[in-house]
Amino acid sequence: MKLAILGGTGSLGKGLASRWIKAGHDVLIGSRDLAKAKEISIKLGLDASSGMLNLDAAKSCELACLTVPFAHQESTLLSINDALVNKILIDATVPLMPPKVMRVQLPEVGSAALNAQAILGTDTTVVSAFQNISAELLQTDADIDCDVLVAGDLIDARNIVIDLAADAGLTGWHAGPLCNSVAAEALTSILIAINKKHSLAHSGIKITGH
Ligand SMILES: NC(=O)c1ccc[n+]([C@@H]2O[C@H](COP(=O)([O-])OP(=O)(O)OC[C@H]3O[C@@H](n4cnc5c(N)ncnc54)[C@H](OP(=O)(O)O)[C@@H]3O)[C@@H](O)[C@H]2O)c1
Repeated sequence: MKLAILGGTGSLGKGLASRWIKAGHDVLIGSRDLAKAKEISIKLGLDASSGMLNLDAAKSCELACLTVPFAHQESTLLSINDALVNKILIDATVPLMPPKVMRVQLPEVGSAALNAQAILGTDTTVVSAFQNISAELLQTDADIDCDVLVAGDLIDARNIVIDLAADAGLTGWHAGPLCNSVAAEALTSILIAINKKHSLAHSGIKITGH
């Protein structure tokens, strides 16, 4: 697929990009800064032409993934919303409110994913995923001991994102409608707290069952 990573110059964006490039996807790196997008594209082994402004990446892709800090989720989406009509947006943003990142603090609308859907309107399908995955590990070839909770209102869109998780070497699970994203988003603060209190580098979650 032609995938745009909006904010693709950051930690999570580079991690997902590197995995999806290895899986054979056509990845576009989006940024507010064209030179930075091109520089990161080259570092990831892509042509410089794969680095674009967020708007151009959103226009050129089949599916986009948003990887910016929550504080900049709204401004980023407002700058590209027309380009995402009839497309899927994967929202990976976690509503962390520094400095208290070990405390679950959710936006008034309920979750970052619901916020994204409210900004984009019903012509774009928001699916939330990847909130609990370490960006640092994604940037390596390591097996990642953490599953992906995939929440979204359309099952076909969730299936596409579960396949993309598999392409990144991860197991994705249907986590129900988009409103359930709140659980994955909240878990991130808990994992950060576990990392700190138990001296772990990358705690994660696994779904079990027979
Ligand atoms: N890091 C992780 O392990 C991890 C794991 C799961 C989920 N997440 C979530 O994924 C999102 C990205 O995390 P990250 O660690 O990759 O963040 P990051 O590296 O701090 O930032 C990602 C990108 O956001 C863009 N950005 C920064 N300030 C901006 C602004 N004022 N307006 C618009 N864009 C801005 C930058 O791109 P340009 O300067 O190129 O525009 C930057 O490269 C966050 O919501 C985070 O909670 C992170």
